[in-house]
Amino acid sequence: MAQLEIKLAASSEARHILRRTLHADSQTPAQLEAQVSAFMLYARRMRLPLDRQWWLLADGVPLSACNCVESPGRSAVLFLPPGGSISVRTEELAVWLRAIVREQRGRDLRLLQCLLAPGDEKNAAALSMAGFRHLAELCYLERGPLIADLPAPPTAGQRSSHDWIHYDNCNHADFARLIQSTYQGSLDCPGLAGLRDIEDVIAGHKAAGRFDPRRWLLLRVGRISAGCILLSENPLRTSMEIVYLGVRPEMRKRGVGALLLHRGLQLAYADGLAKVTVAVDSANEPALRLYGSAGFVPNAWRRVMILPLEPRSDGHGGCEQSGGLSTCF
Ligand SMILES: CC(C)(COP(=O)(O)OP(=O)(O)OC[C@H]1O[C@@H](n2cnc3c(N)ncnc32)[C@H](O)[C@@H]1OP(=O)(O)O)[C@@H](O)C(=O)NCCC(=O)NCCS
Repeated sequence: MAQLEIKLAASSEARHILRRTLHADSQTPAQLEAQVSAFMLYARRMRLPLDRQWWLLADGVPLSACNCVESPGRSAVLFLPPGGSISVRTEELAVWLRAIVREQRGRDLRLLQCLLAPGDEKNAAALSMAGFRHLAELCYLERGPLIADLPAPPTAGQRSSHDWIHYDNCNHADFARLIQSTYQGSLDCPGLAGLRDIEDVIAGHKAAGRFDPRRWLLLRVGRISAGCILLSENPLRTSMEIVYLGVRPEMRKRGVGALLLHRGLQLAYADGLAKVTVAVDSANEPALRLYGSAGFVPNAWRRVMILPLEPRSDGHGGCEQSGGLSTCF
């Protein structure tokens, strides 16, 4: 076997590394350049450092590359070239990945994540050998701009009063409690249950795009905090992302989810945004029904593999949507 090692790349090499890690078989060189530029601009606007990147060497020759992009909420995403584009065996790829994982252990991170294109079995197998496990297949959905075809506002619990409350520092704890309560019985990435503190989850959601507290809404039906929708503007495109939407268990199947979504769509289109996007676990039938009924259509899929770096054993936290993953490059 060749001598396999990783070598930290300089920040100035970011473009070279990204050309490898963002490469897809179907792209023309011009499309790849545009994607690399967009990624770098996104990282700059979101203040995401691009200084954790490596060349993957065999006998001193760079055969592949990897970026690790850390984000608030103590998580990081690994970017890898498609498995089929690397002329090494799965076991060799796993040697590099183990070395990269070792590099992360001393950092203040709780979760490593990696998104793979569907069918990328080689990277999936190598990641498994390096300790990662399958989390979910994410389905990316989007809805176009036609305001005229907004579904009629649902009538959830119409006899009770409805109050819309937007996020601020004073009601942070209400949002945190509500978000946690919506994880019960959730089908959205249930494998994340208990891995992260709710404060890390919220920090990750805030960093998933341009955070504006007026776009984080909690719905009270009567005196009950029934659900919330957290929206974030994409820093590169005129689109709004649904970072999270959740309804507490006892309020489900009464139209609350549809009401939250309707309000979110109204906000996005009133702000002149052309598209609304969301990423959902493909096994989350209730959410797919909700978004499908509101005119969302799927346009991409990614397999998510995760490696918890410091699993919590105190029962704190719950399952969460995969914050920070939903921008699909
Ligand atoms: C997904 C979720 C938000 C739906 O909220 P809800 O208040 O129950 O949804 P609604 O009552 O407004 O129903 C909306 C649609 O979803 C369907 N739906 C709701 N629960 C369902 C279930 N368990 N199985 C199948 N369909 C379901 C409804 O039938 C309705 O479909 P229709 O428009 O075709 O009639 C809720 O189940 C939830 O909070 N889950 C946990 C968090 C989550 O998964 N969030 C989504 C990721 S962003």
